[in-house]
Amino acid sequence: MAAALTILGIETSCDETAAAVVRRTPEGIGKILSNAVLSQVKDHAPFGGVVPEVAARAHILHQERMVAMALRDADVGLSEIDAVAATAGPGLSGGLLVGLTMAKAMAFAEGKPFLAINHLEGHALTPRLLGNCQFPYLLLLVSGGHSQFQLVRGVGDYVRLGTTVDDALGEAFDKTAKLLGLGYPGGPQVETLAAKGDGKRFAFPRPMKSRVGCDFSFSGLKTAVRETAMALPHITEQDGADICASFQQAVVETVSDRVRHACTMFRERTGHAARFPFIVAGGVAANQALRHALEQVAGEQDVELIVPPIHLCTDNAAMIAWAGAERLALGQEDDWSAAVRPRWPLDRISAPAYGSGRLGAKA
Ligand code: KG4
Ligand code: ZN
Repeated sequence: MAAALTILGIETSCDETAAAVVRRTPEGIGKILSNAVLSQVKDHAPFGGVVPEVAARAHILHQERMVAMALRDADVGLSEIDAVAATAGPGLSGGLLVGLTMAKAMAFAEGKPFLAINHLEGHALTPRLLGNCQFPYLLLLVSGGHSQFQLVRGVGDYVRLGTTVDDALGEAFDKTAKLLGLGYPGGPQVETLAAKGDGKRFAFPRPMKSRVGCDFSFSGLKTAVRETAMALPHITEQDGADICASFQQAVVETVSDRVRHACTMFRERTGHAARFPFIVAGGVAANQALRHALEQVAGEQDVELIVPPIHLCTDNAAMIAWAGAERLALGQEDDWSAAVRPRWPLDRISAPAYGSGRLGAKA
């Protein structure tokens, strides 16, 4: 019988320098032995968003320490690791290069397999690390860089059902916050202020609502928020709260509508009439108003809503190590020629490998 696999994972695709050790039993049960994450949010806050060059330099500075911390926390020596996995894309190329090079060097030095992981696959397989989530399931990923629905049919077998045609949802929160001078990252601040506001005061658009399919669009909403703010003589604290509440209300209604459509598409594509798991991941999954709305939609659609604990919804290396473990268990590994792929759609059929704008980078 195959032995358990112990994998070191490295994540440097955006503004978290992360390393983790995960174990997978031959039965497919996952255990996180360590999960070290260093957020660079303070480094980027003065700029109101992630600066690629700043991120890459910070990854270089901290990565070695984070890997050492992950091994120490797990109480595992490098020689006990069965493989090293690192995010190869999508993400910021400078940071990806730092993590991928480190992983290759460590794997090469130890004579162990190396796995170049798609960051989105990390998010997609997280529910299987937490419990024995059976395929197929539906994933909604809503973060600062992505807003998409994936039909997860198996390891390496994904169908993108819908995506954003412009901004990512987290980005829309961040831009709304920036407009109101709330600081970065904006999501939590918008949510806090929204709790004190009137969600009916401003009639913001519900982009894509009722449209065929389950794509998203947030740039029109962003423009409406900006125009509303600019039309006010000066923005009082109550105005700011009302803008946040109205914006969040528009988001919640839009996302709920898209989820209903995605569930229908999932059933059509899989022929799955029964209850299926619906996973929500990405930083925006922390939003309580959205969670509450999704609980209602899940009840109405008769799907099993799974929202991983927030530290596993946001970027981390445990999910990268786990994706590596799932792939290694299937006998897969990558060779040293694996390169960073700043744009790397999970679903190779429906997405452009390169490009920008519509269904491009943020897709
Ligand atoms: O997954 P994540 O940590 O990083 C990536 O973008 O990959 O997601 C960060 C995003 C940011 O845009 C942040 O503003 C948003 O998630 N976010 C939230 C909340 N907490 C974080 N958006 C809305 N409500 C929140 N409570
Ligand atoms: Zn992510």
